[in-house]
Amino acid sequence: MSQINRRAALGLGAAAAAVVSAPARAADRTDGRLLTRIAFGSCAKQDKEQPIWDAVLAAKPDLFIFLGDNIYADTRDPAVMAAKYATLAAKPGFEKLKASTPLMAIWDDHDYGENDAGGEYPMKDESRRQFCDFWGEAATSPRRTRDGIYTAAIFGPTGRRVQVILPDLRWNRTPIEKLDLAGAEYEGWAKKKADAGSHVPGPYARNPDQAATMIGEPQWRWLEEELARPADLRIFGSSLQVLADFAGWESWMNYARDHQRLFEAIRRTRAEGLFCISGDTHYAEISRLDVNVPYPIWDVTSSGLTETWPVTPPNALRRSGVLQEQNFGLIEIDWSTPAPKVRIEVRDVTGAARLTTMIDAAALRIA
Ligand SMILES: [Fe+2]
Repeated sequence: MSQINRRAALGLGAAAAAVVSAPARAADRTDGRLLTRIAFGSCAKQDKEQPIWDAVLAAKPDLFIFLGDNIYADTRDPAVMAAKYATLAAKPGFEKLKASTPLMAIWDDHDYGENDAGGEYPMKDESRRQFCDFWGEAATSPRRTRDGIYTAAIFGPTGRRVQVILPDLRWNRTPIEKLDLAGAEYEGWAKKKADAGSHVPGPYARNPDQAATMIGEPQWRWLEEELARPADLRIFGSSLQVLADFAGWESWMNYARDHQRLFEAIRRTRAEGLFCISGDTHYAEISRLDVNVPYPIWDVTSSGLTETWPVTPPNALRRSGVLQEQNFGLIEIDWSTPAPKVRIEVRDVTGAARLTTMIDAAALRIA
């Protein structure tokens, strides 16, 4: 358990109230440019061909959001991590994207440093430094020094503001709860299931500890402050799926208290107009939750830019098919009506839309 989790477990939350009531901190980043096309994606292995960039570039996005596993560092050696970032930097498609399109990024486990790692990963300070250097963070950026690389930005003029919120699900995360299914027998059984094309029960479970957390208390205070900012649309870009209800693989669902707290925070701060995008899974799908939420919450998962997986875990909140091919997401905003209308597509390597949903911001309101 981290220092932060110990404080939460002991009920030492008094400092949080003091910070929230302090004068509002400036937004991490504001940018007057109007956004109408925002692309996103996750899970790009640096040592593979990355043909998806041609389709991304053809969509001419105003912004591209990297949702994590942007490289597969998987190391405790800084030199190995640096070499893998250098490999991504040299990809022609990535170079073109970087030269033509504003970028925002968060990490997931593999670019944080290790598969399914949380706060216990020992190289996280160096990993944060390399991440900030690679993604061009200013020397004065708070991302370089605070407890994780979470960030947010507000784009566009009043009445057409898009807020992008990118939480860090790794830096402070309580170690994930593992099911007691380890061992060669389970591994062999899971492989047989996968080879047969049926879903593999994952090795994880919901963490029963009420103090277990995805993001930690300091980031919660930051997130609640961000949600309270005025915006016309909000994109909550999560490296892990926010809604998918299967806890066998990593998701917000593994941390029941934080999962519920997110929806409570949206309600309490009256953060209207929010929808989620996510990555990590190596397949794409669209989910929606309608109960015990302030308004219908959408989660469009795009994964991966290179990675795919021929397995479909269960998800009772799925509202689309499952795309098991390389893909990226594209958000198109129609600002011509008082409440914007949002079309979100998951596109394949040819640029064809394979999953689509329409979200009317008028439905993302708190009564
Ligand atoms: Fe991941």
